[in-house]
Amino acid sequence: MKFYLTTAIDYVNSRPHLGTAYEKIAADVIARYKRLCGVETRFLMGNDEHSQNVFQKARELDVEPLAFCDEMEATFRNVWTSLDISFDDFIRTTEDRHRKAVTALVARIIEAGDIYEGFYEGWYCVSCESFKQEKDLVDGNCPVHQNPPEWIKEKNWFFRLSKYQERLAEHYDACPDFLQPEIRRNEILSLLDRGLDDISMSRRGQSWGIPVPSDPESVIYVWVDALINYASAVGYGSDQALFEKWWPADLHIVGKDITRFHCIVWPAMLMSAGVDLPRKVFGHGWVHWQGQKMSKSLGTVIDPLEAVERLGPDPLRLYLAKEIGFGQDGDFSWDRFEDRYNVDLANNFGNLVSRIISMGHRYRNGRLVVPSRETGPLSSIATETVESYRRSMDEYALHRAIATAFGLIDATNEYIAAVEPWSVAKDTARADELDRQLCDMVESVRIVSTLLSPVMPSACSEIMRRIGFRPSGALNLDRDGMWQTPTGSERQLEQAGPLWPRLAPERVTPAVKGSKQKETKTMNEDGKQVESSPEPELTEASTISIDEFFKIDLRVGRVVAAEPIPKSQKLLRLEVETGSGVRQIVSGIAKAYDPEALIGRHVVFVANLKPATLMGIESNGMVLAATDSTGNAVLIEPEDVERAPAGSEVR
Ligand code: MSP
Repeated sequence: MKFYLTTAIDYVNSRPHLGTAYEKIAADVIARYKRLCGVETRFLMGNDEHSQNVFQKARELDVEPLAFCDEMEATFRNVWTSLDISFDDFIRTTEDRHRKAVTALVARIIEAGDIYEGFYEGWYCVSCESFKQEKDLVDGNCPVHQNPPEWIKEKNWFFRLSKYQERLAEHYDACPDFLQPEIRRNEILSLLDRGLDDISMSRRGQSWGIPVPSDPESVIYVWVDALINYASAVGYGSDQALFEKWWPADLHIVGKDITRFHCIVWPAMLMSAGVDLPRKVFGHGWVHWQGQKMSKSLGTVIDPLEAVERLGPDPLRLYLAKEIGFGQDGDFSWDRFEDRYNVDLANNFGNLVSRIISMGHRYRNGRLVVPSRETGPLSSIATETVESYRRSMDEYALHRAIATAFGLIDATNEYIAAVEPWSVAKDTARADELDRQLCDMVESVRIVSTLLSPVMPSACSEIMRRIGFRPSGALNLDRDGMWQTPTGSERQLEQAGPLWPRLAPERVTPAVKGSKQKETKTMNEDGKQVESSPEPELTEASTISIDEFFKIDLRVGRVVAAEPIPKSQKLLRLEVETGSGVRQIVSGIAKAYDPEALIGRHVVFVANLKPATLMGIESNGMVLAATDSTGNAVLIEPEDVERAPAGSEVR
């Protein structure tokens, strides 16, 4: 089994942005998934260098175009490496292997009698490198780049695209899966219905490009040149054995703006040259920024390296692959990115891993041995998860596959809440029950890490290391996606710092938001103020009016993380989801509650309390609890959290 996968090759007139990076990340997830399935994979990326924009940019900088492209290659490779993109080959259209392939393939098209000399007069958008018709323009502008195209008038070579209209339609009939998703296929079918015009395939009087074999005065139109990269990279015209091994490509991944080139022009060129068609094209959607396509020419770009610097490559890869339905458009914003990081990674996956490892250390000194006791419910959930993940991945529903893996994280959290290992640990007669629970939780995390390894390769391998799983050789889904807890097998757990430290939780309550400076109090462990800005004093100590009571903003929250505060016997540090974010609250309930037992529970808290610092940790609110006869805290919880979820007001 083998799989040849490509992405669009990028124009190098500017550095990669988050939109172009999105495509490479999605393709990388697929390439890594294929390798995980044991498929021999070749993943191609590259740079599209013969564009007029590139030539003009080099002119502006007063450097040779090729020298400029060399520099840009280094820039692109650096970004892709920082994003952990695992391409096997990187092609540049100025390379000799590409020049040979273009010359050979165009020669075949000429031999087939499919080019003729004609006269082109019309609009041309240099940013798209594409000929435009009057009806394509919006207010005289290119609809994608929102700037006016040039009017060009030149003698060109034309490709008889119209000749292939019928064969293309037959191909779409015979291979309904050729183009995914469905919406893109419908667009192409309606273009075919409307009829195809021949296209200009050369530019006269330009020096930057590959000459037309029969007319050295003209260079091959940059799109015809660029599309051939997929064949040149596997040896078309230069290495027949390599070409036979890898062609046809199994999947071209391209943006929705360029599916027409890949789904009409490219197949017609291949038909003309007598070369097999690629098996599938996937036209993904756009990453939007503030409601617009992220695009250099629109000035709406985010540098992927900035996102990597903030939170690392894995969280960015996860955000883009999970939050944007593959095939649809999706938004990027810093707030949303950080929010998802806190929710999915810091509070959910990362928290689960560290909870399990810390329970393993607390109850078993970090060394787990699988008991003979039967495995619990997580094993069948994990098996179903792996199957459904596979189905989604095989359909390229990357977002759904990832959500499925996160379903196993949820199931593991629910399992912990249901079996309460901290209670089981109190009874030595239930030792093997606890062993089984701990081993099952670890196994579940191992399977989640296997499934998410194509998305977050380095974090998942770090998690596997921490739970003592060292696969022999590359991961393999058939083997490593199976539930494996044979009796007597062992796992050594390693405690280490948080994988994804939480970003500073919401620090100010709505009531004090916007205040110039926050006053904080510092308290010692007993809750005594040692340094304070006093609250305004109430004039009547015994009663308060209803208006005064309403000043207190009581809310429902959900505990997403809880941990002891070092050197404190009373205090716990809680992270409480508030419905609009996560805030940190220090609470004096450590004597009554095991931190593990609090995760997922709902509490009522004072949302507009002035922040205070307790044992050096800022607390933004106060969790309400009753007191039992021994003076211990008893938490107040809403009776029905479906009806009163986090964020609900309490009156
Ligand atoms: N050079 C051509 C492709 C030739 S392929 C034979 C090109 N280059 S590009 O640099 O403009 O775009 C490269 C890829 O990035 C394209 O697939 C394009 O659709 C994609 N994207 C550019 N902006 C994007 C977003 N904002 N969001 C998602 N993908 C985006 O086109």
